Amino acid sequence: MINLIALVTLVAIQDTSLAVIPRPVHMTRGTGTFLVTPATVVVTDRATRQIGYQLADWLQPATGYRLAVSGAAGTAARTIALRLDPTLARLGDEGYRLSVSGTHIRIQAYRPAGVFYGVETLRQLLPPDIFRAAPVTAVLWTVPAVEIEDMPRFAWRGAHLDVSRSFMPKEFVKKYIDLLALHKLNRFHWHLTDDQGWRIEIKKYPLLTSIGAWRRQSLVGQQRAYADTTQWVYDKIPHGGFYTQDDVREIVAYAQARFITVVPEIEMPGHAQAAIAAYPWLGNTGEQLEVLTHWGVDQNILNPSDSAIHFMQDVLTEVLALFPGHWIHTGGDEAPKQQWQASPVAQARIKELGLHSENELQSWMTAQMSQWLAARGRALIGWDEILEGGTEGLARNAVVMSWRGMDGGIAAAQAGHDVVMTPTSNTYFDYYQSQNTVNEPLAIGGFLPLDTVYAFEPVPAAFDAAQAAHILGTQGQIWTEYQRTPKNVEYMVFPRLIALAEVAWTPRDLRNFADFSGRLSRHLARLSVLDVSYRRPGP
Ligand code: ACM
Repeated sequence: MINLIALVTLVAIQDTSLAVIPRPVHMTRGTGTFLVTPATVVVTDRATRQIGYQLADWLQPATGYRLAVSGAAGTAARTIALRLDPTLARLGDEGYRLSVSGTHIRIQAYRPAGVFYGVETLRQLLPPDIFRAAPVTAVLWTVPAVEIEDMPRFAWRGAHLDVSRSFMPKEFVKKYIDLLALHKLNRFHWHLTDDQGWRIEIKKYPLLTSIGAWRRQSLVGQQRAYADTTQWVYDKIPHGGFYTQDDVREIVAYAQARFITVVPEIEMPGHAQAAIAAYPWLGNTGEQLEVLTHWGVDQNILNPSDSAIHFMQDVLTEVLALFPGHWIHTGGDEAPKQQWQASPVAQARIKELGLHSENELQSWMTAQMSQWLAARGRALIGWDEILEGGTEGLARNAVVMSWRGMDGGIAAAQAGHDVVMTPTSNTYFDYYQSQNTVNEPLAIGGFLPLDTVYAFEPVPAAFDAAQAAHILGTQGQIWTEYQRTPKNVEYMVFPRLIALAEVAWTPRDLRNFADFSGRLSRHLARLSVLDVSYRRPGP
């Protein structure tokens, strides 16, 4: 008996050889394996029934059989049980316990999201071929015996996608969402509008898509590589596309079924030239502009009149009806103020409001929008420029996305606002992955290797617990001026987003790049099966 206990203790050591990413908080390897067979039954309660069906859906293509999903085990010898457990409140809304033995798999959680993440972990415990889309005959579908208790470090674990500079087909957006869910990410930041294209149907303003979703051509090559603008060469290929409101509902529901909140971004007052091209009275000059055909920061921004503000609120009214999530992103980055300096309308507004600068005027516009959203039960989120004219009037629930380093996020948290840390230094996946750029696809510049992403610490060292509580989490960005196709986006995003997913999920003291790299090398087999064009790690 004593020998048996010694043996159990011996094998029950912490095990990192299971390639689960992000790394679970507690994981102890047992002995034996659970074998999934056609007779295995998925047992659920009412609240986990849909997740049970989802699990059966996911296992069916590769195994070639569909598991029964039932409220009771019946006579089944082997069961996969998915249950809510009110005693697991300490694991929070997204934590779970996963127990695997020779006869059972049990996933228990306080809330359905936790059960879902337990199922995602289970998929990673099966052979990588489980991700295939047609039956694989030569594989035994075994799951190693293990005890896992797991919960995320941060509530905001995000990934962004710019579909304005390069329109991304709906099927790719869904694949991207699937890949987020596989890595336990829970926010999809959908960058829907910019100078180079407006990508969401707005019924009240049809020109936003009939004009704003299409540009004549695109600049060829890297913009900063040209000596001057007179040298610019264009591809002469029209580019565009947009999502109908039915498409948006489909995407939002698809994400919801994977416990992902979609955060739409409608840029204002800058990065709005596509909207101004559609409705020139939104601009400051009256000029008929075209949808922008090159990249960079553009001078054309929205005017600060009541009618322009009401226009954007009309747009947001339709956006709110489509996106049930709490956060609405209104951009706010890179809005040059030259046109406001020259505009009688803008200057009269500054005077009438008793403001001192154009930056204060942008802050006033942001404040209006934040209060308008707060009155509708939502929260504005914006890039850190929204702080430049002060936070006077900004709704208390407004959130700052800190991209120009950490300072904007630090100031916002100190002022009592929640923050998502997204500094270019660690989270911009449009940067090169190698210093040997000639061997890499064209990128905007910069250098962000995998280990730098992995080393990111979202909470500033000097923060106390109360300040740290304002750091909601982190998110990876992919801007698509130079990432023109889904395959190109995949190459830039993977595996860097996987490193960031571990930053967002796993406790800081469990993060270890060597250990991560070992798990990643085996995880890449799953990405290959899923047809993800990841970059092979290395210099
Ligand atoms: C940004 O990268 N302009 C937010």
